[in-house]
Amino acid sequence: VESMSLLPSGAGKISQLNAVVLGESIASEENDLVFPSKEFSSQALVSSPQQYMEMHKRSMEDPAGFWSDIASEFFWKQKWGDRVVSENLDVRKGPIHIEWFKGGITNICYNCLDRNVEAGLGDKTAMFWEGNERDVDASLTYSQLLQQVCQLANYLKDVGVKKGDAVVIYLPMLMELPIAMLACARIGAVHSVVFAGFSADSLAQRIIDCKPKLILTCNAVKRGPKTINLKAIVDAALDISSKDGVSVDVCLTYDNSSATTREDTKWQNGRDVWWQDVVPKYPTSCEVEWVDAEDPLFLLYTSGSTGKPKGVLHTTGGYMVYTATTFKYAFDYKSTDVYWCTADCGWITGHSYVTYGPMLNGATVVVFEGTPNYPDSGRCWEIVDKFKVSIFYTAPTLVRSLMRDDDKFVTNHSRKSLRVLGSVGEPINPSAWRWFFNLVGDSRCPISDTWWQTETGGFMITPLPGAWPQKPGSATFPFFGVQPVVVDEKGNEIEGECSGYLCVKGSWPGAFRTLFGDHERYETTYFKPFAGYYFSGDGCSRDKDGYYWLTGRVDDVINVSGHRIGTAEVESALASHPQCAEAAVVGVEHEVKGQGIYAFVTLVEGVPYSEELRKSLVLMVRNQIGAFAAPDRIHWAPGLPKTRSGKIMRRILRKIASRQLEELGDISTLADPSVVDQLIALADV
Ligand code: WT7
Repeated sequence: VESMSLLPSGAGKISQLNAVVLGESIASEENDLVFPSKEFSSQALVSSPQQYMEMHKRSMEDPAGFWSDIASEFFWKQKWGDRVVSENLDVRKGPIHIEWFKGGITNICYNCLDRNVEAGLGDKTAMFWEGNERDVDASLTYSQLLQQVCQLANYLKDVGVKKGDAVVIYLPMLMELPIAMLACARIGAVHSVVFAGFSADSLAQRIIDCKPKLILTCNAVKRGPKTINLKAIVDAALDISSKDGVSVDVCLTYDNSSATTREDTKWQNGRDVWWQDVVPKYPTSCEVEWVDAEDPLFLLYTSGSTGKPKGVLHTTGGYMVYTATTFKYAFDYKSTDVYWCTADCGWITGHSYVTYGPMLNGATVVVFEGTPNYPDSGRCWEIVDKFKVSIFYTAPTLVRSLMRDDDKFVTNHSRKSLRVLGSVGEPINPSAWRWFFNLVGDSRCPISDTWWQTETGGFMITPLPGAWPQKPGSATFPFFGVQPVVVDEKGNEIEGECSGYLCVKGSWPGAFRTLFGDHERYETTYFKPFAGYYFSGDGCSRDKDGYYWLTGRVDDVINVSGHRIGTAEVESALASHPQCAEAAVVGVEHEVKGQGIYAFVTLVEGVPYSEELRKSLVLMVRNQIGAFAAPDRIHWAPGLPKTRSGKIMRRILRKIASRQLEELGDISTLADPSVVDQLIALADV
């Protein structure tokens, strides 16, 4: 243990810690250890801290050997070259580049489907689908899924989609969404899934950036009691993009008859095609397009600190190996498990842990179209019992929203199939952790609180449920091959117990390789702030036992219900309102969403503030980004606190927004300190 400087400091000393028995009142959060049961650990893939440490040690000392052993379990048409990994992660030494398994020829769809069917899993259920309404469901075996993917892949090829072409997918959680992703991967096309809650403007912005040959959508979807006409949003987006010179040849539209009818769907002949009219006519087998490990697999846009979303680019081989391995270990996956991740495929979680990671393991996955509190707050546990879900992976915001309802919505359902719980998207507060653990999991199921990002492709810091005692609210220790470091303002690594900026040293197979079309922004955002490291944008602390505690974003990104929203995007949406002169947006604590969006708005000279105006400002954001980004609060600001050089002092705005008025700090450097009192006076307008 001594020689392992890379190891979580103090990790070997766990047994000496002051363990607290479950359910007793806890004096200090940090010392509160929750041990996996003996039954759980004895059957787990990694069953002790020692075993974890040995594996982690090998992954750090011999990453090439560690990862190539795992990669060899997959199918490669041709093995990679001599170098498993080639990388430069230090801007001072030239351009950043990362390559894993370069020269290896494979296909991730083949590894998800054909390989499993050939291994005898053809009749195993690949997907259970649960519709928005209770009695609407479906399922597909691995063989059936392969056939459906092949039919769509053949169609895509037939209309001219080729290796390397972008395809935009704007679909809700129908089985057709993972099918579409896999079909693209099969033919080497690069999918870019856009969350079907984004507005026409946002969709258009992404279409203009990646210029897809084709877009996949459906006519409408029901989410809870509401019907959303997705095709109408796509029509509007395609109008906007064509004005910008980007036209899309084909709009393949799935007829989601449970939400609307064909007659009610607007149609542009020549461009729009009904999925059900064409796809089933194609052969159910389709040759695989073999690609290099470093060929792009997908683009996924995410928010950063400027207005323009970033196209995070992931490649094939490393991502495949990494998502499969993280899924397997972090959830202690067994072939008998039924796995449900509540995330939408529009986000990275749905890419890595609805589609690729689980299917690479031949897992049975639940895909849910609806919302967790429709028709009531018991829906999740109803679904858990219905499909005998054993691994349930969700977000803290959902836990907090369900916690507010009567416990009977949980206890009315058996939940006895559950074995492992998971959390992702934001730090899980200890009280939500306990409710999830004690009530939902009957104090029986370890919680994997997985810290990672769109950029990292897969889990970076995560419990291995059978190995470590857990501390509620801590993501625990790094995954194999991952070397997190905490640095101070100057970029110096801090050892032992500390707080600072979370960076990663070295690369891991699932890392993103660039930002689409903007490698410079990739380097500037992630590798320049602390030279020699990947900078996550998160703050974190490490306690005396080496456990990591994530403390949230340190950049201009707000995490609302686990959705990442750039303050600059919301500000630019608000500022485009004709009566808005300027806007400044900050995050504030929110009981259910984690963070809420709080917007300070300066109006054009002479315009009076009114309820009507407030509504139209909020509507502006809904239209330009999507409903999930709508500000929770608009604060009328005749003036904003600015330095003499004109920089908005967000620190002060954050304090005003959270009403911590005694903590405003030094305001004497403001160009006009009186705006602060003015803002405080308007706080309740
Ligand atoms: C940001 C990444 C990665 C899947 C979903 C979000 C926050 C994510 C955790 C966690 C604390 C977390 C971070 C991160 N985050 N998981 N378990 N504990 N914070 O992906 O949209 O790329 O957002 O989400 O702030 O930087 P994303």
